[in-house]
Amino acid sequence: MSLVNIVRPELRALKPYAAAAQVEGMVRLNANEMPWPRQGDNFRRTLNRYPEVRPTRLAGMLADRYSCAADELLVTRGTSEGIDLLMRVCCRAGEDSVLVPEPTFSMYRHYANIQGARLIEYTTSRSNNFAIDVDAMIDKCDATTRAIFVCSPNNPTGNLWSHGDLIRLLEARANQSAIIVDEAYIEFANRPSAIELLAGHDNLVVLRTLSKALACAGARCGSLIATAPFIELVSAVQAPYAMATPIVEIIENTLQAENLGETEQFARDIIHERDRLIAAMASFPFVQKTWSSAANFFLVQVRDAAALLAHCTRHQLLLRYFGGDLADCVRITVGSAEENRRLLAAFTELADTQA
Ligand SMILES: Cc1ncc(COP(=O)(O)O)c(C=O)c1O
Repeated sequence: MSLVNIVRPELRALKPYAAAAQVEGMVRLNANEMPWPRQGDNFRRTLNRYPEVRPTRLAGMLADRYSCAADELLVTRGTSEGIDLLMRVCCRAGEDSVLVPEPTFSMYRHYANIQGARLIEYTTSRSNNFAIDVDAMIDKCDATTRAIFVCSPNNPTGNLWSHGDLIRLLEARANQSAIIVDEAYIEFANRPSAIELLAGHDNLVVLRTLSKALACAGARCGSLIATAPFIELVSAVQAPYAMATPIVEIIENTLQAENLGETEQFARDIIHERDRLIAAMASFPFVQKTWSSAANFFLVQVRDAAALLAHCTRHQLLLRYFGGDLADCVRITVGSAEENRRLLAAFTELADTQA
């Protein structure tokens, strides 16, 4: 990657924090730690010791999962931390800009605002099923555009980017913008990851998470995948010891091949339930449109969103409302078969009262 053009100039020569050395078998009198673990501290690496500055074994396991090299991956506290790090690494406050399609995941806007990066929006149209016109999007960029967010499948619309469009964007913005592909929901889509494009496109950054299909949202673990020199730079910005020992050990365990079958089944069940729920929406007169989705949620346009939300709240069901351009839409997360049964029962009751 031509870091010269993409990374903030003042960070290009940043050296990683110089942490106390951690050498297996040596007595550690260099880190002001307590020499004894507390009773009941059964972690493989007890908690009186700092974790590794970067969790090397976990990074290797995640790299295997995502088919990239270990030095092309940074373990982060969820994708959220990855988004924050990328804003800070790429954008100078008050000078640089970030391009985001609309509607999309609101956290890009949030961290751009915190960093003081200017937001350029490319608005997709619902009448065109939120499809991206990649050339129109490229036209929105200017000389200050350092980062472009691509959420695929997109939250909240559920649609996917084609690799053809992605390659077009990567090539049009080579040496100018980091193209950040957020694949938080890719396990629910029948589509290969953009990671396979990394070899030929050094301005590509892919974000993955264990919060969705791997059922580990509470553990806060994500991956930022890019070329090794870019990862080295982002790593220098991330807090030392970012990943806490209990989380590292829990995630290492989750990623053992023999433990993955359970979550693979969860994902298959969610895909099945998603397709069943989307089909069922057609039977409710107050649902005016249902968009197809490659994620574990889908978006519906409804006659009266406020009435639907109030009705669902009375049935102890929480749906997601965004307002603004989506004021007549609601995003529904696919739940368990029992949760979905309750959703459909509440929808049926509402339809009956309106009949
Ligand atoms: C598109 C997208 N990216 C990232 C995240 C955040 O994921 P994480 O839990 O890994 O921070 C979400 C959460 O809803 C999301 O919708």
